[in-house]
Amino acid sequence: MRVTLYPTAESLEQAVLAGGTAVVFDVLRATSTIVTALAHGCRGVVTVVDPAEAQEVAARLAGENIPVLLAGERGGEKIPGFPHGNSPLEFRPEVVGGRMLVLTTSNGTRALNLAAGRAGTVLVGSLLNARAVAREVCRLGRDVTLACAGTQGEFSLEDALGAGMVVLEMVKMADPGWLYCSTPGASGLDLSDFAVAALHLALAYKDNPRRAFDHSLHGRKLFSMGLAADLDWCASLNTCEVVPVVGEGKEIIPGCPVIVRS
Ligand code: MLT
Repeated sequence: MRVTLYPTAESLEQAVLAGGTAVVFDVLRATSTIVTALAHGCRGVVTVVDPAEAQEVAARLAGENIPVLLAGERGGEKIPGFPHGNSPLEFRPEVVGGRMLVLTTSNGTRALNLAAGRAGTVLVGSLLNARAVAREVCRLGRDVTLACAGTQGEFSLEDALGAGMVVLEMVKMADPGWLYCSTPGASGLDLSDFAVAALHLALAYKDNPRRAFDHSLHGRKLFSMGLAADLDWCASLNTCEVVPVVGEGKEIIPGCPVIVRS
């Protein structure tokens, strides 16, 4: 199985993912929020790039008597006029249960929509569900693209760490003894150099992933905005078994995928 990694949404635009599996990471915070909302009973998440379009989608769902929440951020801040921002801690079971969630964010929703238009199957990855995602990728058994959203076109440490944790779990499943004696190749996985780099990031931070957020640009920004609790939540490794997937043919608006529990 070939494992490739794209460091930013921009790099994904050039990618040919035909037929394979893609896993999208925006660890701080979009994909962590999507995993949390679906784990807490959300019916589905519609990801939209443009805020005005997000308002239109939410109005359309409400017009069809579908219970819906509208959420979004820019620059880490809640979008003015939106009832919800992008903090995973907002989407408790009593808030999101049985409802659709329409979400727009700076980088994560764009990466998701890019991948949805290109890959056969698109999964949503984070630190919360890294092991569950690795299990699903191995079950699907196809070549996999790890698609990191990045931050404004720049490499982001936390997204690569999320991807690296999935590679680490895949290697451990393929060759449990690997960690102690051989090279990644021995696991039978054909890792790109970016995937090997992400794997070693995971080895560096696996005992304390939260520390990576102290070292990352966006982690430090969210901390400076008083969002330390979000960082603690997004760092809780392998605490969730939910593997969100872009639902087949469920688009409400062309180009805006609906993400559901697999
Ligand atoms: C993004 O899409 O860039 C992030 O999710 C932003 C954030 O939530 O801070």
